[in-house]
Amino acid sequence: MADVEVSVCGLKLRNPVLPAAGPPGRNGAALIACARGGAGGLVSKTVSVTPARIPTPNMAEIRCGLLNTELWSEIPVEQWVATEYALAKESGLPLIIGLGYTADDIAKLAPRVRPFADAVELSTHYVGEDPGPMMDAIRAAKQALDVPVLVKLSPLGRNMVAAAQSARDAGADGLVLINSFGPCLALDTETGDPLLGGEGYGWLSGPAIKPLAIRCIFDVARQVNLPIFGAGGITRGIDAIEMFMAGASAVQVCTAAILQGPTILGKIAAEINSWLDDHDIPSIADIQGRALRRASERQSSRDFVHPILDVQACTGCGLCETSCVYGAIHVREHKATLDPQLCTGCGLCITRCRPRALRLH
Ligand SMILES: Cc1cc2nc3c(=O)[nH]c(=O)nc-3n(C[C@H](O)[C@H](O)[C@H](O)COP(=O)(O)O)c2cc1C
Repeated sequence: MADVEVSVCGLKLRNPVLPAAGPPGRNGAALIACARGGAGGLVSKTVSVTPARIPTPNMAEIRCGLLNTELWSEIPVEQWVATEYALAKESGLPLIIGLGYTADDIAKLAPRVRPFADAVELSTHYVGEDPGPMMDAIRAAKQALDVPVLVKLSPLGRNMVAAAQSARDAGADGLVLINSFGPCLALDTETGDPLLGGEGYGWLSGPAIKPLAIRCIFDVARQVNLPIFGAGGITRGIDAIEMFMAGASAVQVCTAAILQGPTILGKIAAEINSWLDDHDIPSIADIQGRALRRASERQSSRDFVHPILDVQACTGCGLCETSCVYGAIHVREHKATLDPQLCTGCGLCITRCRPRALRLH
C-alpha cells in the first residue's frame, strides 16, 4: 500500500484530502460528517466579525460546475467558539479555521478561535487586488497566533505569483490555491431570470475551474517556496494527482463534497492510493512537483510532434476521425490510420482517444 499520509505546514494529515471552506464545513456537525467521510483533515467555513446575510437562491448546478453567491458563514463567531469548533475537534483531525477579511477583523477573530485552531486559513476574496490589506491581515494573524497561517488566493484577474510572493513576505506559512472564479452569470432559459438571487452574479467552482487551478498552482510552485493546498474542480483521485504534480502538497474539495456528499473525500483519498499502487509509486512525495521538473527538461525541445498510433490498442471507435479537423485520421477496417502529411500535430486526438491508442511517446 502506498503512503498517503502527508505532513503540511506541520499538520499531520492521515491523507491529503480535506473539505474546502464552504458548505462541507458549514458547522461542527458537517465537519464531523467530513471526518466520517474519510477526510484527512478539516477546514471550517470562513467566519468574519458579523454573520453573512446571503441572497436566495444561492447555489445552482450548471454544466461542468456550480455557481454560488455565498459569502462567509451565516453563523456568528460566538456560536462557532461556543460549540461548533469544539464539536469538530472531537474528530481528532487537524482543524484549519477559515477567517476573513481585514486586519481589524482578523485581530478580533484570531484570539477567539485560537484554542481550537491547528492552523488558520485567511480568505482574501473580498480584500481587493492591492496586496496591502492582505499583508496587513496576515501580519495581524501572525501576531495573534502561534499556529500556521495559510492564505487563500482568489483567481480574480490578479497576478497570482505576485500575490503569493506578497503573502510570503508578510509571513504566510502556506497557500491555498484557488478560490472560486467570477463573477459569472447563468440564466434560466424558461424565464430569462438569473439562476441565483440578489443581482444574480455568482462564483464558479467545480470541474470548469480545474485547469485554472492547475495553472495557478504550477506558476506559484515554480516561484514561491511555500506549501500549497490545491483546490478547484477536484472530483476524482486523478484530479488530486494532477494537483500534486503541479506542486500541491494536499488538496481541498468543495463542490464535489456538496454535490456528492462528504464520503467523496474518502473515495478520492482511496483513489489516490490505488493510483499510486498501480504505478508502483510509494508516496505522494514521489510525484509532487513532477510537472515542474518536466517543464524545465522540456524547455529546450520544441520540435514538431505528431501522435504515435498503437494499432493493437485502437478500438476503431472513430472519435479521433470525427474531430480531426485536418482530415488526417480515417478509420478503416475498425482501426485508425494516420496520414502524417495531413497531420499538423495539434494533439486533439491524443486527448480524445479513450483507450490511449494515440500517444505522444
Ligand atoms: C457554496 C460555496 C461556498 C463557499 N464558501 C467559501 C468560504 O466561505 N470561504 C472560502 O474561502 N471559500 C469558499 N468557497 C470556495 C471553495 O472553498 C473552493 O475554493 C472553490 O469552490 C474551488 O473548489 P471546488 O471546485 O472543489 O469547489 C465556497 C465555494 C462554494 C461552492
